[in-house]
Amino acid sequence: MSNLWKIVQEKYSPELNRRYETIFTLANGYRGLRGFNEFSQIDERGNFIAGVFDKAAAPVCELVNCPDPIDIRFFVDNEVCDLDCLPVNHFKRYLDIRAGTLNTEIEVEIKKKKLEIKTQRFVSRNDVHRWTAEYCIRPINFSGKITVESMIDGDVTNGSYDPSNRIRHYQVKERVDLKPGLAMQVFTIDNNIEIVESSLITCDRSDEQFINSRKYKEYGDVIGEVCDLFVTKGESYSICKYGVTFTSRECKGNVLNSAKNNLEKFTEDGFECEKKSHQSVWDNIWAMSDIEIEGDDKAQRGIRYNIFQMSSSAYEKDPCVSIAAKALHGEGYKGHVFWDTEIYLLPFFIYTYPEVARALLLYRYNTLAGARKNAELHHCRGARFPWESASDGVEETPKWKADSKGNVVRIWTGDEQYHISADIAYAYYEYNRAVRDELFLKQYGAEIFLDTALFWQSRVEYNKAEDRYEINKVIGPDEFHLHVNNNVYTNYLAKWNLRKASEIAAWLENKDSEFYKKLLKKLKIRKEDIAGWTKITEKIYIPMSKNSKLIEQFEGYFNRKDFVVSEYENNGMPVWPEGVDKDHPDETQLLKQPDVVMLLLVLGEEFDLETKKTNYEYYEKRCMHKSSLSPSMYSIMGLKVGDTRNAYKYFIKTVYTDLEDNQGNAAKGLHVASNGGSWQCAVFGFGGMSIDQNEILNFNPWLPDVWSRLSYKIIWRGYRLNVDVFSDKIVFLSEADISIKVSFKEYKIKKNERKEVKLTGKIKED
Ligand code: BGC
Repeated sequence: MSNLWKIVQEKYSPELNRRYETIFTLANGYRGLRGFNEFSQIDERGNFIAGVFDKAAAPVCELVNCPDPIDIRFFVDNEVCDLDCLPVNHFKRYLDIRAGTLNTEIEVEIKKKKLEIKTQRFVSRNDVHRWTAEYCIRPINFSGKITVESMIDGDVTNGSYDPSNRIRHYQVKERVDLKPGLAMQVFTIDNNIEIVESSLITCDRSDEQFINSRKYKEYGDVIGEVCDLFVTKGESYSICKYGVTFTSRECKGNVLNSAKNNLEKFTEDGFECEKKSHQSVWDNIWAMSDIEIEGDDKAQRGIRYNIFQMSSSAYEKDPCVSIAAKALHGEGYKGHVFWDTEIYLLPFFIYTYPEVARALLLYRYNTLAGARKNAELHHCRGARFPWESASDGVEETPKWKADSKGNVVRIWTGDEQYHISADIAYAYYEYNRAVRDELFLKQYGAEIFLDTALFWQSRVEYNKAEDRYEINKVIGPDEFHLHVNNNVYTNYLAKWNLRKASEIAAWLENKDSEFYKKLLKKLKIRKEDIAGWTKITEKIYIPMSKNSKLIEQFEGYFNRKDFVVSEYENNGMPVWPEGVDKDHPDETQLLKQPDVVMLLLVLGEEFDLETKKTNYEYYEKRCMHKSSLSPSMYSIMGLKVGDTRNAYKYFIKTVYTDLEDNQGNAAKGLHVASNGGSWQCAVFGFGGMSIDQNEILNFNPWLPDVWSRLSYKIIWRGYRLNVDVFSDKIVFLSEADISIKVSFKEYKIKKNERKEVKLTGKIKED
């Protein structure tokens, strides 16, 4: 297997265990198993099942860290194989992203006895309830007894590295000896969600003796089965641990029996059989989503890792869950879902796996009841989606947090970061634009559009003196500036949301007036409301600089102290300009992440090139990139306006967010939005793809010098389009007849015909 499909850890360093647990997490959308190294006890292990949330005594609802099914120990002469206590002669771990497996190779010495263990673990994409690990063990210079102890650990807590917030979110009810095999049944504290973890170990050789020696153990909330294996020097033995998980969320029958039956079948099927099916699912995913970058191994490996983890974080069968900011890869942000999903991740799924995009959108539809409650709490009508969401759509952003000096600080994002409601409406629009799924728009999208429009209608304030509508006391995407008035991103998206809602209302009335009437009744929308939306869109305030196309991020932004970034760290990231009080960046014009530039990207077709250029030039110099969501967007906008200097630097930053831990907190979980940002950089940035006002695909690519070829694929309106970019030409292969534009000139592509278009290298608009 080529190195371009591998993420390798060559050296064992216990202090990096927690970071590698995130990087090596295996997930399938149903669950995520952190890449816990079973030969060390220095860990922050995690077993997260999508949708299993609990609050109990925690400040807010959080994704439950469920019982750990992986735990396994190997003993030679009763001494445990532990990398932190023994001489380690060989160590290597790698993620095979092509095949979706995590591989570990070690050789340790236990009282001079050399033992080699090679393991392979995967979380099945074929049957999402299954995971397994194979351990090939070889006594190098001894014959004797090896003891294997396989456990299910029901004593796992959330917050194991945060003593004051440590909490166990479930209670163990049944500990079952399956003879052979283990099962543990637990229930979450608040909602009584039942979770069953089951596992079983087998050995390929001397099976009878292995089975006969088996003993079942209970140590409080930890259960185990222990087997002895008598080994001969130089020979190899394969031990397999099979694991099956079910919860009452998806299993309407007897959860314990479902787990038991599936486990039995799984052991019959065997490791290799499941692996084959698992890999064929990955084959399909890669066939549709792989991006090839020739000439740059670092970028190639990195982009594949990003695609791998993004694809691992969702699946199409559960419309009641979404992708958390840390995906299923860690406890950071408590498993909550942010705008990251709709604005950063969704494009990848829309264009490579629309069924997943649909499920992610349905999660918002299915949490509308919570969003309506949030609106009510804010004395508004309609639906106000939460800034941080868990299972039911009510606001989950913690109100308080302790800063590094122990001061208790109020968190305002849950109260003020309103733009997410429009972001979600926008996501429905983007999906429909690419997929053309009118039934979906009618059944689900229309309700989202109308109910969010209703929210904006009740949230705007009319300023009589200025004869304009305003939205005051908000936080825009740039979280350095709180309680601001008329943030442009928020106002413009609210305006867009209201305008589109009116259009969709007219469309729906025309298409199915009965359905439309029922919907208006359900949402308590009057005809006058809809007329009011048009008035608001005409008069909502968008602050601009007086004499140029420069947009003012919010009212009064230009009056804040002006600092410009002029120095960069070795890693290319900005240094705080001299004189800035880092505790009060809000007093300055410095930004945490793009805000105006974000607007110009999200609603790109509404703004001309000069506006984009002017604002990119102004805001790029003032951005501190203190969020992993930031660099990718400047990379893309730079390319759009012809400033290619930073594009590659910001792209690599984004792609390597977790692999190089450049935010310093990879241990807490994946920065999955940067996975989406990486894909967008490759396709919308370097690949130059955009959609114009007439809904025609445009291509305006640019490649860094070292790249000889960039290749990607998309699905546009049900048909696949392959795009191959070279420095001087772009080559298309489409499954259907299609019109596209390259450098703003129109071309017709015939079905299944290879079409080559020369590139002029100039960025210009009609
Ligand atoms: C960013 C937000 C983002 C959140 C979760 C914050 O640091 O400012 O834009 O949604 O992280 O990723």
